[in-house]
Amino acid sequence: MVDLPDVVPDILVEQRDFYRADAVQSDRWLSSLIDPGNDDVDARTYRSGRQRVADLLAAVGPLGRVLEIAAGTGRLAQLYLPLADSAVLVDSSTESLALATERVRSIPDICAGVELIEADVFEWDSSGQTFDTIFFSAWFHHVPHDVFDLFWGRVEGLLASGGVVVFDFLDARVPSPGHVDIPAAATEDYTFYAPVDGVSVRDLGGRRWRVVHNLWQPDDLARRLHGHGWQLAVHGPGLLSNMVWATAYRLSDAKAGRRAQSDGVGALTGDANLPDT
Ligand SMILES: C[S@@+](CC[C@H](N)C(=O)[O-])C[C@H]1O[C@@H](n2cnc3c(N)ncnc32)[C@H](O)[C@@H]1O
Repeated sequence: MVDLPDVVPDILVEQRDFYRADAVQSDRWLSSLIDPGNDDVDARTYRSGRQRVADLLAAVGPLGRVLEIAAGTGRLAQLYLPLADSAVLVDSSTESLALATERVRSIPDICAGVELIEADVFEWDSSGQTFDTIFFSAWFHHVPHDVFDLFWGRVEGLLASGGVVVFDFLDARVPSPGHVDIPAAATEDYTFYAPVDGVSVRDLGGRRWRVVHNLWQPDDLARRLHGHGWQLAVHGPGLLSNMVWATAYRLSDAKAGRRAQSDGVGALTGDANLPDT
């Protein structure tokens, strides 16, 4: 179990609670974005970001044993399951995992050994399992800065030698969507308020939650990961206007020839002028 700093647990509990309450609403919203008949700009962005990560997963593959962190309702599982030998999907929301279970069952041609686990990613005991590919989407911005090193240490411990992390993050250079003025009373309909100082507020059903919401300058993230012995590559726009897809792998794997740019995973960002670790 990760030893969390004293200041953060409250908001992490609130965040988990929000995603239990929000599961059905957000899954419906994702359905509307995937619908090819939806010509709204957000829907078109979502579908092209989805295609981009599908291509990226195919380029990085074969994916071997996959771990998806904060898998939600399993919306992205159909992109990696056909390329995987096995998969573990972890999420803390009972409601999201119920939807994910149904969704995964309906995916044709998937690998054997798909396991859905309800757990807090900071506390989950993998019983020594490691994975060749670790995937997370719409999750990294929910990791508090105080917990970054601990979180990435978990990722490091869970990734097998030669493995790759495929994920997205929120680009601080792009304006964040969301309402700016927060009314005194929480709204009934889902309302998302633009993040301030690494926290965004969400309303639903007359209740209100705070959620961790950290944006990253790509170069800062590349430098931070480089300091941990990792190489970051950025692969273009993600599922929403301010999201970008990225991969990360250990510099030691690149040096040992287990990972290289020739993996076909695209241009590197932010690390070109950094010293070797
Ligand atoms: C924005 S949703 C993303 C879901 C999914 N990755 C997707 O792209 O559709 C964030 C997810 O993180 C999960 N989550 C929040 N806190 C968590 C925690 N401490 N451990 C595991 N999952 C958590 C929520 O339940 C929710 O499903």
